[in-house]
Amino acid sequence: MSALLELVREDLRGFGGYKSARTEALKGEVWLNANESAWANPADRGASSRRYPDPQPAALRSALAELYACEESQLLIGRGSDEAIDLLVRALCNPGQDAIVVTPPVFGMYSVCARLQNAPVIEVPLRDGADGFVAELEAIGDAALKARAKLVFLCSPSNPAGSAIALDGIESLARRLQGTALVVVDEAYGEFSDLPSATALQARQSNIAILRTLSKAHALAAARIGVVIADSELIEVLRRCQAPYPVPTPCAELALAGLSPQALAETRRRVAVVKSERDRLQAALAGLPEVLRVYPSQGNYLLVRFRDADSAFRTLLSAGVVVRDQRAAPQLGDALRITIGSPEQNDRVISALRLQEAAA
Ligand SMILES: Cc1ncc(COP(=O)(O)O)c(C=O)c1O
Repeated sequence: MSALLELVREDLRGFGGYKSARTEALKGEVWLNANESAWANPADRGASSRRYPDPQPAALRSALAELYACEESQLLIGRGSDEAIDLLVRALCNPGQDAIVVTPPVFGMYSVCARLQNAPVIEVPLRDGADGFVAELEAIGDAALKARAKLVFLCSPSNPAGSAIALDGIESLARRLQGTALVVVDEAYGEFSDLPSATALQARQSNIAILRTLSKAHALAAARIGVVIADSELIEVLRRCQAPYPVPTPCAELALAGLSPQALAETRRRVAVVKSERDRLQAALAGLPEVLRVYPSQGNYLLVRFRDADSAFRTLLSAGVVVRDQRAAPQLGDALRITIGSPEQNDRVISALRLQEAAA
């Protein structure tokens, strides 16, 4: 057995999962094997939703493999990258036994999924330094080995901190944890980053998995399409642990259309706008006396410390602008996270905060 498969829960290594009617490779013209309706719903004009969907829609899988420059066999599509996080925790962590490592302040779903699986959560906080929040890879490796953790979640670019992790650091960590843990690099915001994707490392290190999503740069959050990219052996295991029909046909169709050459060109244009607006908003906020610090960001958001975060939050709210209050997160007692909006929306953020200053 490969070192990677040894990371999978022993009781799931030979698990076949649910064999749905759609997974049986049969040929025929009259399909009466899945208790579907013989007629489309009157609202289903294209009659695309009468039958259960392909568990991994072939055309979408191929488009996503091309988008992320990986083999189709290395990719599993799920209901957002949230589902991929859940699948990884369930497939690798024996309840009450195998830990995960996270780096707070960070996206909360890693710990939520671990909690649901009763997997211990080891925290190695990001270090708040002169260049922003930094993942301490040496300490992460030490903690993972000490706790015999099965999964290490690196968020790059990190939500909400905004920092990204250089590939050589990820590779060394994965090498150090070879045979003991899978390093999961969550690249939900990868399109906004100047650093390359960690998929470039997977040919050398099989214990690296990457998470990508269409929810952010591709503007399809409601379609709930995310992927995990990993060694095909692991993908097969995750697939058997997944719900029978995870990708609804209307979502798959929308996602496929959203990956057409024209749509991709528009997405790239918008990513460029977000990046330049990120610089503009960062500079404007940094110039406000009420602002203590604006962190450099590789994502489509800025993490901002305020002298009085409560007042800034309420000022923005009364101007109709809703931002994410981060004050309950570790190390972020005075911080808000502001998503980069359209130029007009960003102007509204700036003028609301300037008005607050003028009134003070
Ligand atoms: C870092 C990170 N990973 C994953 C997700 C989940 O994204 P999805 O919509 O693909 O489930 C989010 C959502 O905000 C996120 O910030």
